[in-house]
Amino acid sequence: MSTDEYTLFTGKVKELINVDLSGYKEKQMRRRIESLMNRRGYQSFLAYYNLLASDRQALNEFMDRITINVSEFFRNVERWQVLEQRILPQILEQKNDNSLRIWSAACSTGEEPYSLAMLLKTSFPGIRYKILATDIDSVVMQRAQAAVYPIAQITQIPQRFRQQHIVERSGTFEIAADVRQTVEFRQHNLLADPYPSAIDLIVCRNVLIYFTDDIKDRLYRQFAASLTMGGVLFVGSTEQIFRPHEYGFRILDSFFYQRI
Ligand SMILES: C[S@@+](CC[C@H](N)C(=O)[O-])C[C@H]1O[C@@H](n2cnc3c(N)ncnc32)[C@H](O)[C@@H]1O
Repeated sequence: MSTDEYTLFTGKVKELINVDLSGYKEKQMRRRIESLMNRRGYQSFLAYYNLLASDRQALNEFMDRITINVSEFFRNVERWQVLEQRILPQILEQKNDNSLRIWSAACSTGEEPYSLAMLLKTSFPGIRYKILATDIDSVVMQRAQAAVYPIAQITQIPQRFRQQHIVERSGTFEIAADVRQTVEFRQHNLLADPYPSAIDLIVCRNVLIYFTDDIKDRLYRQFAASLTMGGVLFVGSTEQIFRPHEYGFRILDSFFYQRI
């Protein structure tokens, strides 16, 4: 399939759903889309586009495939220990009002913002905070807001958080209401929408890997602008930023970058 046809396809998809696929690494993205097309018996991007434009279910399936929604509570748990023991105390020390504005960007089904909320409630009881949780995909955000997870996922949550913050049902568990209340969900496209401002901690993990270097470059600058001085960007464990100084960051710890 020619690159031209793929380029034409990405342009049309952008018009249809305002998602700019040209910002995502082409090889990976094409492989995902082509496997979907094959499953449905399509060989041409343009014929497949016509299906997407006319069939809501095919469009949902497409959205689902291109966004990759896998998530976990306390993903890479040792990084969350560093967040708790080192990064958050440091951010709070430089603030004098004991309040935090946190943004969980590309939050998928909610495991990440709820991990933040449980950790803050347990380990930083005296502070005021708000967690903004965003994702491009409205379907996963609905699941995040429902806050009900299969029981198999419970082992991802450290024992000390489970007692107070989890309500077990048969086969599922629910995040307790007082934890849910600290998280506000909003749909947001990292490539197209304005970023919130005066954020103390941005958690944006396991999505930057899908973007091209040019897009990452732009996003790092936008994250830096979104943070307060001394604020921190927490990225995924395969998403090290090369030359952080170019974006106004310094390394605080592996995968934690402080705005300077
Ligand atoms: C692999 S999940 C990461 C979830 C979570 N941050 C974690 O690390 O467990 C990637 C998420 O990025 C979202 N995403 C993809 N492109 C996006 C974009 N342009 N703007 C906002 N979110 C996006 C997807 O919908 C998906 O939920």
